[in-house]
Amino acid sequence: MDFKNLWLRQAEGLGWITINRPDKLNALNRETIEELIQAFENWRHDEEVLAVILTGAGEKAFVAGADISELARLDESSGREYARRGQELTLIIENYPKPVLAVINGYALGGGTELAMACHLRLASETAKMGQPEVKLGLIPGFGGTQRLARLIGKGRALEVILSGRMVTASEALSWGLVNRVVPTERLMEEAENLAKEIIKNGPLALGLAIEAINRGLDRPLEEALEIEAEIFGQVCATEDAREGTAAFLEKRPPRFRGQ
Ligand code: COA
Repeated sequence: MDFKNLWLRQAEGLGWITINRPDKLNALNRETIEELIQAFENWRHDEEVLAVILTGAGEKAFVAGADISELARLDESSGREYARRGQELTLIIENYPKPVLAVINGYALGGGTELAMACHLRLASETAKMGQPEVKLGLIPGFGGTQRLARLIGKGRALEVILSGRMVTASEALSWGLVNRVVPTERLMEEAENLAKEIIKNGPLALGLAIEAINRGLDRPLEEALEIEAEIFGQVCATEDAREGTAAFLEKRPPRFRGQ
């Protein structure tokens, strides 16, 4: 399927999605949001795609936010609907059964930081800048920023970032846990690819179930969350992959996972 605003590539178990509106710093217009939803859905059951790498085209930006020309036209009901659709995309990514890595190759502002936060891992270039500048437009974050940022870096820091609207440097983002790694720009893609390839050597069902266990347990009391872990641990024990992985270790050979 051809997309107008995305460039898709599949190779060696990885699906690459590049948001491709570089002249608008890859701002998320409605059409791009719909295409992203479609692209993730297309790969959900594709056995050739074991992890997804999401990045932005050009040298300046991952995503410089929701498209401000569309935001300018929203009223109460269309604004609510717009936020819900963007949030839906972030939920699809957050609960995706395969690891999703955001490669933040420049500005990740507003919807860009929100999109990156929905991904399971974030790698940023040394020159990346993140932030939630919506208040500068008289708006607030609407694709999960007020909720995920506080969960990821704590309420105090989230309030600072959201109320000031200022840009956060890559090293600040790293020290706060907003990104997992900061990498020199010229090595960013290679490092993301290497990390993704290391991840996809592991049992594919285990990867998906680990994501599910973390997501489902995170906002619950520990005892309930541990119940969820035990239930999902039982499920993973019943898979062929678990038998293969443990047998391979005991037989001192590499595992051959089949995602079953
Ligand atoms: N929505 C729509 N268009 C955007 C955009 C956005 N979020 N961010 C950048 N663009 C467009 C600019 O309007 C410009 O288009 P034009 O060439 O047709 O005028 C183009 O992308 C390049 O951006 P420009 O502002 O000229 O680049 P810059 O290097 O001077 O500044 C930024 C970069 C990121 C600081 C600046 O573009 C910016 O502040 N963008 C908005 C960020 C934002 O508020 N995002 C949150 C939205 S909720």
